[in-house]
Amino acid sequence: MRLTLPDLRRTAAERKIAMLTCYDASFAAVLDRAGIDSLLIGDSLGMVVQGHDSTLPVTVEDVAYHTRAVVRGSQRTFVVADMPFGSYQGGAPQAFDSAVRLMQAGAQMVKLEGGREMAPTIAFLVERGIPVCAHVGLTPQHVNRFGGYRIQGRGQAAARVRADANAVVQAGAEMIVIEAVPEAVARAIAAESTALTIGIGASAACSGQVLVLHDMLGVVCGRRPRFVKDFLAGAGGVEAAARAYLAQVQSGEFPTTGHVYADSN
Ligand code: KIV
Repeated sequence: MRLTLPDLRRTAAERKIAMLTCYDASFAAVLDRAGIDSLLIGDSLGMVVQGHDSTLPVTVEDVAYHTRAVVRGSQRTFVVADMPFGSYQGGAPQAFDSAVRLMQAGAQMVKLEGGREMAPTIAFLVERGIPVCAHVGLTPQHVNRFGGYRIQGRGQAAARVRADANAVVQAGAEMIVIEAVPEAVARAIAAESTALTIGIGASAACSGQVLVLHDMLGVVCGRRPRFVKDFLAGAGGVEAAARAYLAQVQSGEFPTTGHVYADSN
């Protein structure tokens, strides 16, 4: 039986949730067997699978294709699919059409990037039966506005990230990915949010953690972000690496202070 959103909420009341990105059936089967709670078909597939230098070229059909594969390979994990760049920013009806394609591919929830400006779109989807995970902080689809993959929410900008998180939850998002913000900002969002909070370069205080699969297996091309840990090193195999990740997320051993950001480091 596949985990549901209420199952995840019940789990989060007892322990941390472990999410990983996944793009194909074989890895999905291994991660499922290892007990990973949720698999995200991230638009990071544009970089780690397709070889682009950003996530911007990814299409809804790309994510739907990989979602179908992950669903075929897994039995138990909760499946979240990313809404790629340009598939939802055009307004609520466009977002609804894209989300329907991903739900029909087997996703149980869709993820979209953005804060206050996405609140009406999130409300539109949720009211029509589509569970939404919002993504705040470093939102990779905004790379051209940010001028690179930079930490967000430092200094005065902390209030903006917190307001974004608040707005998406008010609009009905039931999960928020918080990426690359100072630990104190992520901790504050986790404390004030009624939604599940999933950190990546955020805080161990979040309801759970997510990493890109390739990153946690040490398959990193170029600079390795601070929040990445190689769980394959010394594990002896992919399933053992996934089990180590699960155990360290559950116990709070990962992330350490070395994997999160202070207001100025
Ligand atoms: O696309 C992706 O892989 C993501 C995760 C980094 C959260 O959005």
